[in-house]
Amino acid sequence: MKFYIDTANVAEIREAYDMGIIAGVTTNPSLIAKEGRDYQETLKEIASFMDGPISGEVRADSDTAEKMIAEGREIAALSKNMVVKIPMTAEGLKAVKVLSKEGIKTNVTLIFSANQALLAARAGASYVSPFLGRMDDISSDGLILIQDIMDVFSQYPDLETEVICASVRHPIHVLECAKTGADIATVPFKVLLQMISHPLTDQGIEKFKADYAKAFPTRYRTL
Ligand code: E4P
Repeated sequence: MKFYIDTANVAEIREAYDMGIIAGVTTNPSLIAKEGRDYQETLKEIASFMDGPISGEVRADSDTAEKMIAEGREIAALSKNMVVKIPMTAEGLKAVKVLSKEGIKTNVTLIFSANQALLAARAGASYVSPFLGRMDDISSDGLILIQDIMDVFSQYPDLETEVICASVRHPIHVLECAKTGADIATVPFKVLLQMISHPLTDQGIEKFKADYAKAFPTRYRTL
């Protein structure tokens, strides 16, 4: 499973990119609004250093296929690695069909059932984004959603659509997604940091430092 980062915060993206752990970025209108910056400028800045796929979503006022196609073309023109994120609606599927035929990559978002994922894939989506955290929020098991999609997609090897586990809230979500064989998990920066950290790693570093300093008190500081 590959990791994308789920944020529009450029400093967080740079930090994760420098660690070599992310292969792409996903944003949405809420994440960009949180940064308080111009929509397209934010996407352009991310694209200035990030070499993997960057999902930029059509905005809420783009609610017809026509508007989504027009905004999708603008987003795609920002950089060669832009992916147009489109909500899972009938109009959205029409937009996916047109954009994918033009060679523009699409990520169908707000997926809450395996049927929705299969429809989006058949419309030509490059990616589908099932939201597991938001399923958990309404007392449904989000991991069952991911597993269902992986089970269905594995029946049809002709499908090229990749599954992005989205709405990831904690490291256990990530681990469980990886066990399903999902292609990608898009993970908030905070959760990536939680995944990196382990108390035994921290304790181990402290012990190595202390043991070395005790054995070589003079050399320790100069190395
Ligand atoms: C995915 O592409 C979305 O941007 C994101 O994962 C939504 O997560 P949330 O449910 O925590 O808002």
